[in-house]
Amino acid sequence: MSKKAPLVAGNWKMHATLAEGRALVSAIVTAAPGLGNARMVVIPPFTALSEAAKLTVGTAVGLGGQNIHWEDKGAFTGEISGPMLRDAGCDYVVIGHSERRQYFSETDATVHKKVGAALRHGLTPILCVGESLEEREAGKTIDRIGAQLDVGLGETGRGDAERIVFAYEPVWAIGTGRTAAPAQAEEVHAFIRGKLEEKYGKPTAACAIILYGGSVKPANAYILYLERDIDGFLVGGASLEADSFVGIASEALRASKEE
Ligand code: 13P
Repeated sequence: MSKKAPLVAGNWKMHATLAEGRALVSAIVTAAPGLGNARMVVIPPFTALSEAAKLTVGTAVGLGGQNIHWEDKGAFTGEISGPMLRDAGCDYVVIGHSERRQYFSETDATVHKKVGAALRHGLTPILCVGESLEEREAGKTIDRIGAQLDVGLGETGRGDAERIVFAYEPVWAIGTGRTAAPAQAEEVHAFIRGKLEEKYGKPTAACAIILYGGSVKPANAYILYLERDIDGFLVGGASLEADSFVGIASEALRASKEE
């Protein structure tokens, strides 16, 4: 059975000057027409968003921010709001990345408020979930992901839930070179889809986009994408080079056509 077209998002994290960002986005935009209906999204640091928007506007490449505050404006030094992200040209925003949870004390409750803010402002949330190594080794992976989804989604209704992209990123696979085995990733993706089915019904669950993230490279993208419930990737390190980022999209596209 062939699969839906892949979504491949590149989270640059705290990388790239303006000049580096321009070169990277230009190369990705140039490659996009060769990638059929695969969708690529670039997620630069806030400082490069406006410049990236100039290059992505009117192209098939989407643009996202790495974080959002739940209020629209106010005395929140260092934060950035939904209207600001829209103003800078964003369509997407990453919410609840494990680095935000780990280093900046984000909780499932703040993740929920951020999801609401993103939806309110017409941004597609990329809602990240994932277990630590300790949680995996203690057999608590599914419980942890379930709790992150329950609290992160809260009372979000079906219509809004259908606008969310989900990303499963096991913390132990991020930046470590240690990718989850395809079957390990699939087990959690299938659980996420099942959870969405419980909450919102089968059609919503079937259409949901669930990305995998954690040491994705062109060399492992094909085999991961063959898994039934993996709809694309959230890429860190390999999104900082156009060749590897585009290579991942191209491998996912190839796998999506596999019968
Ligand atoms: P790496 O691809 O560098 O492991 O990072 C994954 C990630 O955290 C994307 O958000």
